[in-house]
Amino acid sequence: MSQAPATSLQDIVSHAKEYGFVFPSSEIYDGLQAVYDYGQNGVELKNNLKNIWWKAMTQLNDNRSGGPIVGIDAAIFMHPLTWKASGHIDGFNDPMIDNKDSKKRYRADQLLEGKAEQYAAEGKAEKAQELLNEMGRLLGNNELEAVRELIIAEGIKCPISGTTNWTEVRQFNLMFSTQVGSVAEDSTVIYLRPETAQGIFVNFLNVQKSGRMKIPFGIAQIGKAFRNEIVARQFTFRMREFEQMEMQFFVRPGTEMEWYEKWRDTRLKFHQAVGLPAEKLKFHIHEKLAHYANAAVDIEYQFPFGFREIEGIHSRTDFDLKSHQELSKKKQQYFDNDLDENGKPFGNYIPYVVETSVGADRLFLAVFCQAFTKETVGEGDSQKERTVLKLHPALAPFKAAIFPLVKKDGLPEKAEEIVKALRGEFRVFYEERDAIGKRYTRQDLIGTPFCIAVDYQTLEDNTVTIRHRDSMEQERVHISELKAKIGYAVSEQRILELI
Ligand code: GAP
Repeated sequence: MSQAPATSLQDIVSHAKEYGFVFPSSEIYDGLQAVYDYGQNGVELKNNLKNIWWKAMTQLNDNRSGGPIVGIDAAIFMHPLTWKASGHIDGFNDPMIDNKDSKKRYRADQLLEGKAEQYAAEGKAEKAQELLNEMGRLLGNNELEAVRELIIAEGIKCPISGTTNWTEVRQFNLMFSTQVGSVAEDSTVIYLRPETAQGIFVNFLNVQKSGRMKIPFGIAQIGKAFRNEIVARQFTFRMREFEQMEMQFFVRPGTEMEWYEKWRDTRLKFHQAVGLPAEKLKFHIHEKLAHYANAAVDIEYQFPFGFREIEGIHSRTDFDLKSHQELSKKKQQYFDNDLDENGKPFGNYIPYVVETSVGADRLFLAVFCQAFTKETVGEGDSQKERTVLKLHPALAPFKAAIFPLVKKDGLPEKAEEIVKALRGEFRVFYEERDAIGKRYTRQDLIGTPFCIAVDYQTLEDNTVTIRHRDSMEQERVHISELKAKIGYAVSEQRILELI
């Protein structure tokens, strides 16, 4: 078996559409930019990833492991003051700039980052760093006119018009807003949440009190988030409607760095366990921290378009709970009756928070890119190219496909018995059309780890052939062994054990 050249993002987009993983949203109307729908296979893969994350959070962490994690499902709409407290109303902006000739809109920081990348590729690492530092300084001071001047001074041209005819730089708030209330005059502006985290913060005391939780503990949530991204490119990497899997871990102030390091390492292990190889993952430590953080790191995966963030781990101090306390006038404190080194209870405090935040869509895209394989198989005259999705079996949309060799002589009935025996345990696919080779190919394309062929020998001795997706090897096994054999290979347990 030999590997074909590197995959392009276009290969991924086409494969995802052709085999029912991801479709452009409302495609019959030419789609809606940066919004996507998951198809019949995509939803299974995404749900499997979400389930693994949920179990990794809520089942692998309990009192004995140092801090239990429980889940919630908060509403997308929240009281508008939530976003005042979190800083999103005042500060959740991206600097945008338009080219007057092409009328195309860009993120000013991305234009400068692109230039820095170009310098780095030309071996001018120092110049690249200087440019990034200057950009950081100007954006930090909100000196937007100077950012425009820097873009012009660097000779950055619009890729469409090829000109440097730029408008001024403006800050653009990424939150979508809408109204609640039936009468226009009485309506209130509310926002579609740009992160799920705030639903956790405002429920901190509800969960702590109703669950009698002792610090440290965590609250996990999976849900939709919305951002009006200025430039939405690179498929499901940057969407306007996406899903986040976030966990806020509440700790005693002063212990946050320990937990930050623990979560950073645990989350890296998670990504490796779902099939992303160590050499395609790296940490990117934030040097310039957001106002609420005292440490932050991204986990980046090497997509076909380069290393990009899939998850952020942030030590958020007590910023969020403190802001909510101030604005809501409701105490967000916890009474810690554990004893300090002087034998006194730690007493009342606002907990510090370590957050892990991964985009379900970005994780999906990373796992999909990693699994997508084009390879040459066979020897001599029987050599051929094949495309196969080498997904971890626990993540695959179907765990097994069951094929009667022919559509007669009792083989479909025998295959049907196997379907019935397995379908309560795993998602299985049944097909009797076309030559068996074609049926194998169709399953390779969607990542089904096992194909089970029922032939004449099955009628005699109750054995079937199992064909393994990755090695393409075949073995003969008794029907009574199928459940255990497939069950072990596709179990989520195999992933969870690695975390
Ligand atoms: N609560 C912290 C927070 O929201 P973030 O770095 O802005 O932090 C966390 O987002 C994760 O959410 C990212 O690492 C990414 O995986 C995902 N994400 C953010 N914006 C996204 C977008 N426009 N499209 C898809 N995923 C996105």
